[in-house]
Amino acid sequence: MSSYYANAQKKAKILKERGEALFLAIETSCDETAAAVMRGFKPLSSAVHTQIDIHKKYGGVVPEIASRNHVQMIDIVVKDALDKANVTLNDIEAIAVTYGPGLVGALLCGVSYAKALAYALDIPLFAINHIEGHICANYVEHEWLKPPFMCLVVSGGHSHIVNISEHGVYRLIGKTRDDAAGEAFDKAARVLGLPYPGGPEVDKLSKGGDPEKFPLPMPRVEGYGYSFSGLKTAMLQTAQRLEKTGGYEKKDAAASFQNCVTKQLTGKAIQAALDFGASTLAVAGGVAANSALRNSLEKECEKHGIKFCAPSLKYCTDNAVMIGAAANIALQNQLPADLSLNAEPSLRLNMIEHI
Ligand code: KG4
Ligand code: ZN
Repeated sequence: MSSYYANAQKKAKILKERGEALFLAIETSCDETAAAVMRGFKPLSSAVHTQIDIHKKYGGVVPEIASRNHVQMIDIVVKDALDKANVTLNDIEAIAVTYGPGLVGALLCGVSYAKALAYALDIPLFAINHIEGHICANYVEHEWLKPPFMCLVVSGGHSHIVNISEHGVYRLIGKTRDDAAGEAFDKAARVLGLPYPGGPEVDKLSKGGDPEKFPLPMPRVEGYGYSFSGLKTAMLQTAQRLEKTGGYEKKDAAASFQNCVTKQLTGKAIQAALDFGASTLAVAGGVAANSALRNSLEKECEKHGIKFCAPSLKYCTDNAVMIGAAANIALQNQLPADLSLNAEPSLRLNMIEHI
């Protein structure tokens, strides 16, 4: 094992000096088994197997089922990524894997697989933070994007405003006090009787709805903070009240909820960009796929002379290309992992807290 790591460090140093590597990136933090082959920020392939249909009947992700499915699928998904990129395992120069945050069993599948592969191929392994991956998805299609910039990170577990001052250096500007934005979408969807995952369903249903019709309170949080937990209760109570007085349209409730979340997310993110003099605002994470949020951020950025940057939809929700993009930065900033690497379900982004 020690000779493996000595070798891995030597090889990583050579790749770092060269400036890029042919990476195989692996992501299994929740309910997507994903693999990608990347050169620098350029994806040569991306394979994603989603377990959504498996978890749908339970109304959410069942961790044990997720782990078992990753075990079944990971080899197939990796082979698919290699085939699509027209390379073999022997061409791969380094492995990148998500080691947190996420579901411990799910993460362990990817981490164990990646460690075994790195050891067998005698190549370096880079441990990647899933949230950093989401942020780095922005580099894949926007070559012009370079720090410093502000990023709104909105996923199933995060609603953060983060300032990226240089590659790998994050400053937390604001975050949610309670639920994450994605969690709020999923809860609102449940109130409306929509299937898991709720975000895309609310997005779809909102299309024909009136965003002003279903009254919801706009949460008030100081500074750059967010709050979403009260919205679900407000939705439930408003729905019950309206039922008694002539009913309501679900599409109006969906559109009004989406509008409320979007306004809150956009307002504070723009304010943070303006206050900190950021010329670019990026968005990242599963909720960045939301059509109303993308439109609102784009419009407000334009109004305030801020450049707006968002990954295409396929790189917003979980995928391995974003992990490969983060690995391209890790190659310069981080030592390779040794074989004691473990899953870290509560891993945080290494951030300087803003005071
Ligand atoms: O980033 P992600 O795929 O996984 C995590 O890292 O959490 O985010 C998943 C979250 C779910 O809560 C899902 O409902 C939400 O992203 N989501 C959306 C949309 N697509 C996915 N929320 C709103 N609108 C969407 N179009
Ligand atoms: Zn994610």
